[in-house]
Amino acid sequence: MTVSTGLWRDSIFIAPHKNVEGSIRMGAATHQHPAEIVLEARGLRKEFRGYVAVGGVDLDVARGSIHALIGPNGAGKTTVFNLLTKFLTPTSGRIRFEGVDVTAEQPAALARLGLVRSFQISAVFPHLTVSENLEVALQRRFVSPIKFWRGRSHLGDVSERIAALLSEVDLRAFAHVRAADLAYGRKRALELATTLATEPKIMLLDEPTQGLGHEDVDRVTNLIRQAAIGRTVVMVEHNMKMVARIADRISVLRRGEIIAEGTYDEVSRNPQVIESYLGSHSRTRKTL
Ligand SMILES: Nc1ncnc2c1ncn2[C@@H]1O[C@H](COP(=O)(O)OP(=O)(O)OP(=O)(O)O)[C@@H](O)[C@H]1O
Ligand SMILES: [Mg+2]
Repeated sequence: MTVSTGLWRDSIFIAPHKNVEGSIRMGAATHQHPAEIVLEARGLRKEFRGYVAVGGVDLDVARGSIHALIGPNGAGKTTVFNLLTKFLTPTSGRIRFEGVDVTAEQPAALARLGLVRSFQISAVFPHLTVSENLEVALQRRFVSPIKFWRGRSHLGDVSERIAALLSEVDLRAFAHVRAADLAYGRKRALELATTLATEPKIMLLDEPTQGLGHEDVDRVTNLIRQAAIGRTVVMVEHNMKMVARIADRISVLRRGEIIAEGTYDEVSRNPQVIESYLGSHSRTRKTL
């Protein structure tokens, strides 16, 4: 079966936008220098009672890049994500962060090192305002538990940091709105800001645009691109338009293995990738 690129793009992968911003943002993306690997997985494997959900994944995430993990349903994306963030323990394999083996670390220890998972477990308190939420997030980062009781007067430049975070995620106008009263897309922006408050070196996002309407997808996509300046982002994402817009590098998983890796253009032309997506999209099969 031959599949035309046109069909492929129309039905599954949306035509890629020139990733102009991406190239400017990430000097390393021009490949003039070998990229520094900030997060590295080797032979990552996860079995659930004998069922191999992830079977020996190697992954190199370059510092400063936005690296997307894609693949059809059940491919093992979330499992890899949970392994990388240490929410699952691998059956075998190693993970190195900034050259240090972190396979045995707990998620909280990894967060302190700068590897932070965002969105689904972000701590946003619904009854606090946007800026109060950011204050709490900053206190957690900068105040040791022992000094916590000393209160606001010792927090120095916290209000400046809050202002900077509000600007970064475009929430200045909402500083005094309770988190519970924010629209869904803005709640995501606040969640992202509480993660940024912890000054992550690498942020891992599982389906950041899931459940968002068109407008909010664009808002969150822009936010992630903005937040990725000077940081590294690994994201699991189903929205191919979003991936095409901002991912520097894409790893494609199928049945627990990486079957292709490269830029959006490269992976979207890969016959194995095309086949595995067509195989899992009944809607697309009808188009055929
Ligand atoms: N806790 C678990 N126990 C048993 N099997 C699991 C468990 N978690 C995941 N699996 C299985 O492992 C495989 C990979 O699941 P995973 O959730 O990682 O896929 P995914 O690529 O994230 O899928 P989706 O696109 O639907 O989110 C699936 O077959 C799933 O049923
Ligand atoms: Mg998943």
